[in-house]
Amino acid sequence: MNRGIQHIFSDVAHTYELVNHVLTFGLDALCRRKAAKLAAAGDGTRWLDVCCGTGEMAVCLRNVAGKKTMIAATDFCFPMIRKAARKPEASGIVFTLADAQALPFRDMTFDLITLSFATRNINVSRVSLLQCVGEFYRILKPGGRFVSLETSQPPSRFVRRLFHMYVRLVVQRLGQIISGSRAGYAYLAHTIPRFYGADELANVIRQAGFAEVTFDSMFSGLAAIHKAVR
Ligand SMILES: C[S@@+](CC[C@H](N)C(=O)[O-])C[C@H]1O[C@@H](n2cnc3c(N)ncnc32)[C@H](O)[C@@H]1O
Repeated sequence: MNRGIQHIFSDVAHTYELVNHVLTFGLDALCRRKAAKLAAAGDGTRWLDVCCGTGEMAVCLRNVAGKKTMIAATDFCFPMIRKAARKPEASGIVFTLADAQALPFRDMTFDLITLSFATRNINVSRVSLLQCVGEFYRILKPGGRFVSLETSQPPSRFVRRLFHMYVRLVVQRLGQIISGSRAGYAYLAHTIPRFYGADELANVIRQAGFAEVTFDSMFSGLAAIHKAVR
């Protein structure tokens, strides 16, 4: 378990949603809704949102799921998951404290696994990312879907530079001011420019064993939704 990252998210849990909505002009919520719709297209009634944070993606899943669908959500940070579990709109969602590298579920349990804005966080190294994605593969049923929503690298060098500049100059500073956490938003500003582009992330997902890996880029490549099948 990565205690440093766990500590960072404990530190920012109280303002996490506010900072995201301000820094992305609300686009993070729109992205989650789009990812949830894409994720919902398919069979199966056992869904899991990993690294659920304050539960926004799990609630989006709840909103698009049928009545018979069981939705579970996990995170390794207690203050985040406590916020999620206290939301009235999250009632019925089963929350569990767990590390994405070793999930407490049997092989082939779920029909769908989603991961929103956390693929970067489990990418402590390529090996640890592969270990987590391999863990998702293990607990998905054959034919089950994995959906990742994450920031990406715009193919245009100009847009990429503007994006990275925005992260360095605005995201880091404003995040620190609103949350009071210097480490939290320094970490965020460090990881965004270093994360994979959409093609590279698709390769990592394939390397973990998944098939039919496709992605939708959004906002000139600032974010991407990857979909893959076990
Ligand atoms: C940027 S937040 C994303 C939260 C949420 N999915 C969303 O859409 O806002 C990343 C979350 O991943 C969690 N996380 C990071 N590494 C983890 C790991 N190895 N196991 C479980 N949770 C982890 C953090 O605690 C945090 O809540």
